[in-house]
Amino acid sequence: MKRRSFLKLTAASAVTVVVAGGVWRSYDRGVWSTGTGPAYEPWETWRTDRPEGALALVRSAILASSPHNTQPWIFQVTSSQQGEQINVYADTRRHLGAMDPYLREMRIGLGCAVENMLLAAQAEGYRAQLTLDPGTLTQPPANLDSQRVATLNLSSGQRSTPALYDAIPNRRTNRAAYDLQRSVAPEALASLAALAQDQAEDQAKLKLFLLVSDPERQRFSEGTLAATEAIVADPTMSHDGDRWFRSSWQDLQKQRSGVHIDASGLSWMMRSLVKMLPSVSPETQHQSWINSTKTALDTSPAFGLIAVRDLYDQPQALQAGQLWQQIHLWATTQGLAMQPLNQLPEMVDRERQLGKAPQTAELLAQMTQDASWKPTFAFRLGYPTSAALASARRPIEDIVMGAKPT
Ligand SMILES: Cc1cc2nc3c(=O)[nH]c(=O)nc-3n(C[C@H](O)[C@H](O)[C@H](O)COP(=O)(O)O)c2cc1C
Repeated sequence: MKRRSFLKLTAASAVTVVVAGGVWRSYDRGVWSTGTGPAYEPWETWRTDRPEGALALVRSAILASSPHNTQPWIFQVTSSQQGEQINVYADTRRHLGAMDPYLREMRIGLGCAVENMLLAAQAEGYRAQLTLDPGTLTQPPANLDSQRVATLNLSSGQRSTPALYDAIPNRRTNRAAYDLQRSVAPEALASLAALAQDQAEDQAKLKLFLLVSDPERQRFSEGTLAATEAIVADPTMSHDGDRWFRSSWQDLQKQRSGVHIDASGLSWMMRSLVKMLPSVSPETQHQSWINSTKTALDTSPAFGLIAVRDLYDQPQALQAGQLWQQIHLWATTQGLAMQPLNQLPEMVDRERQLGKAPQTAELLAQMTQDASWKPTFAFRLGYPTSAALASARRPIEDIVMGAKPT
């Protein structure tokens, strides 16, 4: 073979190897598999593969929101002559460490799951009676692995399908920029306020604050950005939060939980690039979290706060979660996008844990203008500029336990 032909052949082979390597890497990193695989099956099988009886409610619970997608729940389904019963347990092993030292956010996530089950109960023809276990949130002892937080007693009832039930598989946390040209219509804000009033049966303990004026939004934005920077500057918080970020596609499919780049709100091009490139340092990741938070804040026409009277009362934390789930499902039916931005309440807990001055709690009190209301959950809302993608979910087998003594 002539030298020139040999060189051509070698170059062509090298290009083939590089292209093949790139294609293989893109498959391996899930570039072409967004939203598919075992981690996403619960979204697909929600209707098609519906189990009999009360277990059908658990299928809806799985699709609820949870902090960092930790899915910190275990369900126990029993039946007796009185009817069926579902005990809801906090899986305290799935905690967020210094990001959630009192497991307050964990309880909010459990409230979200409870709300989905109540909606599913109606759709399945059950009458559900909910009992929330009393309790005060403290730093959990190291040997605690689960704790019951709620019980649903189910008896036969009228079958009806609430509109919010149909929204369960369509709800997504939308982290992309929102349309700044469109402010949230006053009627939509009024409906949200009404929803919160209905949900807060006990008006004295749960309240929704909507922040829409320029000064209110500015105060929230500046505070949330500062809280984000404070979290990044706190090595323990950053480390504990990072544990729930899944950078490997294989790991995501195995764990079926945690936060992944596909749900970041970035475009397909940017997500693909991030997936293909070697993993970046934690510092780079943290800086991009600050940047994306800034974009989120700058493009939000409104923010909201769910406040309770006692930040560390367990039932109030669960009720706040129930309200959030309702609000987010309702927004889904209206084409509104939402994203929790909970850095401020997270900093309130961290300052308390470290015995520091409660400066974040004081800032939040300026926003509610009533220090007796303690914001436990913060979010943004607006009209989407792009659709959000689903997050991973664990299968029903992983979260339902056999009989356990209470
Ligand atoms: C108590 C709580 C706090 C949350 N805090 C944040 C947050 O600060 N930023 C964010 O982007 N998402 C936050 N989320 C949303 C979750 O990350 C999200 O529900 C989870 O990743 C599952 O995704 P999905 O809601 O699209 O199903 C929070 C959710 C809950 C229940």
